[in-house]
Amino acid sequence: MGIQIAPSVLSADFANLQAEAARVSSADWLHLDVMDNHFVPNLTIGAPVIEALAAVARQPIDAHLMIADPDRWAPTFIDAGAGSVTFHAEAAHAPIRLARQIRAGGARAGMALKPATPIEPYTEMLSELDMVLIMTVEPGFGGQSFLDLCLPKIRRTRALLDQVGTDIWLQVDGGVSQSTIERCADAGANVFVAGSAVFGADDPDAMVEELRSRARRGVESTV
Ligand code: DX5
Ligand code: ZN
Repeated sequence: MGIQIAPSVLSADFANLQAEAARVSSADWLHLDVMDNHFVPNLTIGAPVIEALAAVARQPIDAHLMIADPDRWAPTFIDAGAGSVTFHAEAAHAPIRLARQIRAGGARAGMALKPATPIEPYTEMLSELDMVLIMTVEPGFGGQSFLDLCLPKIRRTRALLDQVGTDIWLQVDGGVSQSTIERCADAGANVFVAGSAVFGADDPDAMVEELRSRARRGVESTV
């Protein structure tokens, strides 16, 4: 299970996204947070910005849809060039149908859970997914403090994913930093979103590598 780092450009300079992507050239993905001011109390970017960045960035785009009615909008983000499209379980009307549509469109299908949403009701549909995203803050803003109370859910989700047997990734997002990433890796996460930790660093690319090596240490502590 490979460790992957996905810097969130929510904390980058929106006037220079192409240059910001180049500052994290060792990242595995670029994480783009789409917010609609309905599902979350914030408004960010949509498909045209993702399309523009996908055309010039070296890294594939990981689109995190914090929007109402993802069933309607997810295909737009595949067309825009996202390699991974994650919808929120709380917002999807038909999550199984939606996951199948995303995969049929050629993207990886991700499903996100807010901190208070349990994983267990979704046990039977995990094989429909390529990734589960466990939010470790309430979605909507960068720079919030990591919620330790999410760690047991990460651990339970990892156990359920291992039972499915296929290589389903487990992503964490929110407050992931040098001081929290080892705990997430130890609990079973393998894809790490970090916004303020990466783009707030003097050398964002060095921070990506620092986070990667700390995550490896967290994985090693479990074996
Ligand atoms: C928050 C977003 C995150 C955000 C993380 O709702 O989903 O991707 O950019 O920011 P940090 O890493 O600063 O907590
Ligand atoms: Zn996000």
